[in-house]
Amino acid sequence: MFDAKTTCVVVVGAQWGDEGKGKLVDVLAERADFVVRYQGGANAGHTVVIGDKQFILRQIPSGILHRGVTCIIGNGVVLEPENLFAELDQLHQRGIDTTGRLFVSDRAHLVLPYHKLLDAASEKNQKLGTTGRGIGPAYEDKYGRRGIRVVDLRRVECARPLLTERVRRANQLLEMMGSNERADLDQHVELLERLAPKLTPLAADTGLMVHHAVREGRRVLLEGAQGALLDVDHGTYPYVTSSNTTSGGAAVGSGVGPTAIDGVLGVVKAYTTRVGNGPLPTEAESPYGERLRELGGEFGAVTGRPRRCGWFDATVVRYAARVNGLTGLAVTKLDVLDSFTEIPVGIGYRLAGKTCDEMPAEVDALSRVQPVYEIHKGWQEPTGAVRRLVDLPPAARAYLNRLEELSGVPVRYVSVGTRRDQIIEV
Ligand code: IMP
Repeated sequence: MFDAKTTCVVVVGAQWGDEGKGKLVDVLAERADFVVRYQGGANAGHTVVIGDKQFILRQIPSGILHRGVTCIIGNGVVLEPENLFAELDQLHQRGIDTTGRLFVSDRAHLVLPYHKLLDAASEKNQKLGTTGRGIGPAYEDKYGRRGIRVVDLRRVECARPLLTERVRRANQLLEMMGSNERADLDQHVELLERLAPKLTPLAADTGLMVHHAVREGRRVLLEGAQGALLDVDHGTYPYVTSSNTTSGGAAVGSGVGPTAIDGVLGVVKAYTTRVGNGPLPTEAESPYGERLRELGGEFGAVTGRPRRCGWFDATVVRYAARVNGLTGLAVTKLDVLDSFTEIPVGIGYRLAGKTCDEMPAEVDALSRVQPVYEIHKGWQEPTGAVRRLVDLPPAARAYLNRLEELSGVPVRYVSVGTRRDQIIEV
């Protein structure tokens, strides 16, 4: 993706999340100077496998596994501080030195224990299938202009008055929602007092850092979490997350102007999965859904929930290509399809007897669409050891060509296994 003219690249999920962005960012980060997470929080679970070690990164950018890369948690992220330090401890225990190369935006908002209580209470009524990490309530506080930011920890002596009001309000809401849980002020104060001395040394004006990096022509990766169909504006609302997962969010959430971005890589699975509630038009029938889940290890990295599995949906990816301005596609988990004799691909929808080529705004309409399938011949050969496109079985190449044609975006990478080396660069 990087060349003399392309130095700032966004990596986004172009389905419902879990497309394998962590692996792609890890691979691309080998050539990057900076990796910046720009939205979401500990709801993400980016899995990277190196040798026999598996790393699951939630908030720390996947680039941290490369020694020379500076990693930034941008202003658009809602940061769960305790989880950040647990993640750091895990990395240190496994020999990854992060000294001097992890920074947190001083403008990032904090996710606090009361956000998780509110998330759990609202799930009882709304049933969105959230990850329970307090993401929605934290963004509500941010946009309601009552959030607590990393910069506020510089004056931790002010924590108690700041928190008193937030905890009181949270408890009122919990009562209104019929929850018996209550947030504890002292616990919140203790948490901030304990974490402030650890967090403030990592805090920086990261927008300025990214600005300088871009101006100096350094290679910068902006790492998205979740996927286009979970974007709060463009996703299957209300079954979405609370941030802008799409590439527009990358500029806002990392603090650079959109003109700084040179390319947008969309990551898609060779099939489709979704975790949480909401429509999934190409969901596979039994036993194919179970088989995809088993072969692909499709269980949530954060919650362990089984993912719903289905066939590649070209309407979704075409839409994601449009709202993200994708310039390249990375197709992951091609190897999961190795044993199938036939592979359906959703090429469009029919709704109330009419062709429907675009994503309907109404979630109810999307749950009623009938996918139109085209059936592809499977290749029935292992692809995990292939490193060049020309060495893929002809049926696998035909499948990829068709995905490229249907989505209108050139395929730049194909991943054929979980390991770092199992990648084909096109
Ligand atoms: P929240 O982000 O925890 O509020 O959850 C909102 C929706 O986004 C739910 O359907 C979650 O399952 C989904 N979601 C959030 N994060 C991820 C992710 O990293 N991968 C896949 N789905 C996610």
